[in-house]
Amino acid sequence: MRSPRSFFEPLAIGAPQPLRAIPPVPSRMIHFFDPGNPKMVTKLPSLATSVDVLLGNLEDAIESSRKDQARAALVDVACTTDLGTTSLWARVNALNSPWFIEDITRLVSEAGEQIDVLMVPKVEGPEDIEFVDRLVALLEARAGISRPLQLHAILETSRGVANVEAICMASPRMQGVSLGPADLAADRQMKTTAVGGGHPGYLVREDPPGGDVHAVRTTAQQDLWHYTLARMVDACRLAGIQPYYGPFGDIRDVVACEDQFRNAYVMGCVGAWSLHPVQIDIARRVFTPDEGQVAWARQVLAALADGSGAVMIDGKMQDDATFKQCANVVALADLISE
Ligand code: GLV
Ligand code: MG
Repeated sequence: MRSPRSFFEPLAIGAPQPLRAIPPVPSRMIHFFDPGNPKMVTKLPSLATSVDVLLGNLEDAIESSRKDQARAALVDVACTTDLGTTSLWARVNALNSPWFIEDITRLVSEAGEQIDVLMVPKVEGPEDIEFVDRLVALLEARAGISRPLQLHAILETSRGVANVEAICMASPRMQGVSLGPADLAADRQMKTTAVGGGHPGYLVREDPPGGDVHAVRTTAQQDLWHYTLARMVDACRLAGIQPYYGPFGDIRDVVACEDQFRNAYVMGCVGAWSLHPVQIDIARRVFTPDEGQVAWARQVLAALADGSGAVMIDGKMQDDATFKQCANVVALADLISE
């Protein structure tokens, strides 16, 4: 006779592992692909040689009628395609969608050892991440998966922005957060119609010379995403996780894409999404520290050997704080060149 325990063997979900000990890997470009598109899938092994992260997308941009096919195809890609050392991420559908439960169940149960990070869209508060964390823990335990999956949230609602600090700290599985400018613009009722980037109406005008409001004055377009990016970067650093700019939808406008990515890089982001192969090189160029800057940073580190005191180099004062900035630049350059 079976013992009552054998009917319900508690799953060993235990305490979450100290996931942040997972060594960081470069993630300058998170390149999106449609797993249900066989032409795109055939190109994955060669794409893998030029990108840091490949992400199979199941959410927006995949028609409702193709969700099941795309999910099955992503499991197949994960289990059968050799992507070398390139990370494989998956974007699941939103928690309140009819597809989420099937996405998470199948991806974790059938490809949980192959997928590195699950990107969760439209995260509104820490409770969303806590819920996904528990669900993933149960599925991992049931499937006997030894390597814990990491979670990545997309910040794309006003409520999500209001809760960003709590979201970042909601689980030790949290790997990072991306800004989702398209859905965020919709949720905030911004008067834009694009996926990321600027708007010609969002600008500042030089003060009138001598108070003459009729004088010709220069204008400069402003970064619509500055506030959210800055807040997101602070929240991520507070939690010890990585911040990313998300998508830039005007594929032809490589100049504005590069500007948007560079703003994010300078502000502290480590990468951005690439929606088209042309954006891969842009992201690589932007999110890899520039050689001149790395050489300068090494010079500062050498001049302040133990990181204390103050020295002048080329007329610029260097001290403990610039030492730390330079150490960040050098650490990133070293990580990328490994
Ligand atoms: C990304 O998902 C966005 O909405 O910008
Ligand atoms: Mg979105």
